[in-house]
Amino acid sequence: MYKLYVIISFCIFCAVSAQDITTHCDRQEKCNDCISQPGCVWCDKPNINIHCKLESTIRKSTWCIGYNITNPKRSVTVEKNDKLNSGRDGKAVQITPQVIKIRTRRGEETTITFQYAKAANYPIDLYYVMDLSASMKKHKKRLAELGEQLAEVMKNITSNFRLGFGSFVDKTRMPFTNTAPKNFASPCTGCVPTYSYKNHLSLTEDYKQFAMRVAEATVSGNMDAPEGGFDALMQAIVCKKQIGWRENATHLIVYSSDAEFHVAGDGKLAGVIEPNDGTCHMVNDEYIGALDFDYPSVSQLNQVAKENNVNIIFAVEGRFYGAYQSLQQNFENSGVGVLDSQSSNVVKLVIDNYKKIAAAVRIADNATSSIEIKYKSTCKNSIGNGCLNLKLDEIVNFTAIVKPLECLPGSNIHKIQIKPEGVNEALIVEVEVVCSCDCGNLTSSLKCNIHGDEVCGVCECHQGYFGRTCECDAETATTTDDLNCRKDPKLPEICSGFGSCKCGKCVCDERPGDQMIYGKFCECDNFSCERINGEVCNGPDHGKCSCGNCTCLPGWKGNACNCRDTTATCMGPTSNGKICSGHGNCICGECQCIADENKYSGRYCEECASCPGKWCEELQECVECQAYQTGFDKETCLGNCTEFKTILTEVIDVDVNDENTKICTVIDSVGCTITFTYSFLDEQRVKVSALKKKVDCPVPIDPLGKIIIIERRKNVAAYLYFFVYFEVYIFIVIGSIVLGGLILLVIWKIVTHIHDGREYARFLSDAQESKWNREENPIFRPAESTFQNPAFKSS
Ligand SMILES: *[C@@H]1O[C@H](CO)[C@@H](O)[C@H](O)[C@H]1NC(C)=O
Ligand SMILES: *[C@@H]1O[C@H](CO)[C@@H](O)[C@H](O)[C@H]1NC(C)=O
Ligand SMILES: *[C@@H]1O[C@H](CO)[C@@H](O)[C@H](O)[C@H]1NC(C)=O
Ligand SMILES: *[C@@H]1O[C@H](CO)[C@@H](O)[C@H](O)[C@H]1NC(C)=O
Ligand SMILES: *[C@@H]1O[C@H](CO)[C@@H](O)[C@H](O)[C@H]1NC(C)=O
Ligand SMILES: *[C@@H]1O[C@H](CO)[C@@H](O)[C@H](O)[C@H]1NC(C)=O
Ligand SMILES: *[C@@H]1O[C@H](CO)[C@@H](O)[C@H](O)[C@H]1NC(C)=O
Ligand SMILES: *[C@@H]1O[C@H](CO)[C@@H](O)[C@H](O)[C@H]1NC(C)=O
Ligand SMILES: *[C@@H]1O[C@H](CO)[C@@H](O)[C@H](O)[C@H]1NC(C)=O
Repeated sequence: MYKLYVIISFCIFCAVSAQDITTHCDRQEKCNDCISQPGCVWCDKPNINIHCKLESTIRKSTWCIGYNITNPKRSVTVEKNDKLNSGRDGKAVQITPQVIKIRTRRGEETTITFQYAKAANYPIDLYYVMDLSASMKKHKKRLAELGEQLAEVMKNITSNFRLGFGSFVDKTRMPFTNTAPKNFASPCTGCVPTYSYKNHLSLTEDYKQFAMRVAEATVSGNMDAPEGGFDALMQAIVCKKQIGWRENATHLIVYSSDAEFHVAGDGKLAGVIEPNDGTCHMVNDEYIGALDFDYPSVSQLNQVAKENNVNIIFAVEGRFYGAYQSLQQNFENSGVGVLDSQSSNVVKLVIDNYKKIAAAVRIADNATSSIEIKYKSTCKNSIGNGCLNLKLDEIVNFTAIVKPLECLPGSNIHKIQIKPEGVNEALIVEVEVVCSCDCGNLTSSLKCNIHGDEVCGVCECHQGYFGRTCECDAETATTTDDLNCRKDPKLPEICSGFGSCKCGKCVCDERPGDQMIYGKFCECDNFSCERINGEVCNGPDHGKCSCGNCTCLPGWKGNACNCRDTTATCMGPTSNGKICSGHGNCICGECQCIADENKYSGRYCEECASCPGKWCEELQECVECQAYQTGFDKETCLGNCTEFKTILTEVIDVDVNDENTKICTVIDSVGCTITFTYSFLDEQRVKVSALKKKVDCPVPIDPLGKIIIIERRKNVAAYLYFFVYFEVYIFIVIGSIVLGGLILLVIWKIVTHIHDGREYARFLSDAQESKWNREENPIFRPAESTFQNPAFKSS
């Protein structure tokens, strides 16, 4: 008895667990449906109960002996496989293989591998945009010589290199530029009138021309410190024809300046309120929209740079490194470097940054939602579908996992293009999804009572007939209670309560609208899944409801397909290709920052108030008093600045790749600009070195305000002079208004006084001349009347 009990309970467990796995096969009654299910195989032996089984559960020795098992096997063939070629000899090949054919079943994952290497000999277009305000004169001189040198070095990278040159100053209106006719015509000695942006040389292979045009270009001047470089960047990017950008080339812009930049909104100072429209306004190689459109915004520039595959390299003077570094972080493919005093490092800077930019690759494909493709790569700095920090000629092995998600009603052959972004080569993958069996089709077979086709060993009944041999006519069949119609024989419910049993088969109830009940026992439906905002599985764009669970389309996951299945939205421009900047987890497509001693926040966990990098202001006071003896008095300096001792240096020399050392450029307590660097040696100790020389200290103001010729100055003093100069005028104008008023008042007073005197005299003489008599007015009646009361009798 005990033994029997054990056996029975064991067997019940057996049956239940087996059923759980196999139901998705068991339920299938047609060969096509069977092999559309992952892992299921079909036996075409007639008159067996179950034709479709999970491959791993069948016993080959007993099941389907003597008949064919339909189980399409996966195949992968490489059709075209040209070897990678750096392009040095012959045509560049950057991706291999080029064509792959896959035959696979729905739900099966096929791993294919391909290789990518950036061709060394890919064409490069480099456009140099230079600040040509007076102070850049020294850089300009050098740059003219550098053109050829740059081309020479670029030859090592590509044999197909073009160079172009443009320059900018600023908008030609107060307060950016002094528009007094004399100053405007010649803002500084030997300068040309101010302009916004000029293209001096469209992209060309003639490097001598470059040197010539750079030498030819004359510096100009403007008044305020920041320059209008954003206007120039926008035009240089969007004016494709004028600049001569080639479609099949890497596009580089080198932006060099020794000052900060005006940003969107600054135009308002000059009454330019129309936002930048991001289109080309060049006539005769000169930007004509400067006074019509405001400066573009940073995000606008990034957008057009991305659309046009332009990479920007900022080459700037050391003291503005900080400002440009934060700017550069807003551009996806960009770099920043410090220009030394003679611009002699431009070549190295361009090459270094180009290598950095060229070292990134992202793979994209055009698969529809019925095919899911996931990528992995072998590179060290992998970002899912791509790599950062690749070396030139470094070969990256990518694996793509291809998984068809559906069998479509029509053709199931898909042609997919897998392609590194911005590269004109691709891998074509032809995916054939096997969704139908190839095992004979006897139409209107006798075995199926002429009411069905005999396909793969079973009858596929025509409309209106069913039963194993299509013996039942849906019209005439009566509802029965059959064990075949109960999911669980012990339960009384027929067809799960959602259908009727006819001829031993469940006919599921019809549902209104787009709802459907299905399954052998009508146990499934496609409407009772989790809903988001009332939509089943977050709507048809995100997933489908199948038998109570959502089947999500690629790119979505979660119970209701409400989560983005991507980490791309967890990586921002500032997160260095790391998910959530390496300080958080990507959950449902959003960063959840890890809370530790450094509190990270922000959309990509990129902000950190308590981390190094934000220390410029904290360190400033102590640097100032230690290095320049300003700010804190001596006592406070000794007492409060104990954590470091500032080292004075002649030059700031920081390697671009040194992420540990930060450059700070701040304005000190007396208005001078000081520059220092700091780096953390460990948790406690910080090393600080400051540039010996302060710059841009304000010049004391002459209070009498002699009329000062405003030369090109790059500091606040220029503004101050301007306003002192202005104040004198204002004083004179206000003074004369007040004085004029007073004089008018006095004149008026005198005139009225004289007039009044005359009037009074006349009044007096009139009064004397008049004669007065005391007669009564003839029409006057005294105010009394007498009445006699008729009823009154005097006694
Ligand atoms: C199995 O299939 C092949 C090809 O479809 C056919 O030639 C063969 O007769 C089949 N075998 C049986 C036992 O049905
Ligand atoms: C080009 O590269 C080779 C080897 O890497 C190097 O020796 C040569 O100096 C380079 N040429 C230039 C102009 O940089
Ligand atoms: C760019 O490359 C593609 C593919 O190699 C080619 O078809 C196209 O003509 C090229 N375009 C230009 C402007 O060279
Ligand atoms: C890339 O794949 C090739 C062959 O396909 C192999 O020889 C090479 O070792 C792989 N490289 C890496 C880094 O896995
Ligand atoms: C993907 O791109 C290739 C090549 O351009 C094209 O032949 C194919 O039809 C595209 N596939 C889809 C699904 O758009
Ligand atoms: C079998 O052939 C008939 C008639 O050609 C067709 O309507 C039916 O769809 C076919 N069945 C299968 C499973 O191919
Ligand atoms: C349920 O399935 C039917 C038939 O396939 C379809 O027309 C309908 O749109 C589906 N409904 C939902 C909510 O997915
Ligand atoms: C639906 O999902 C639940 C929970 O993941 C699982 O237990 C159940 O078996 C699934 N149902 C079907 C029909 O796949
Ligand atoms: C110097 O340190 C003392 C003690 O930490 C503090 O109270 C004081 O405010 C500091 N002085 C300045 C100027 O920061």
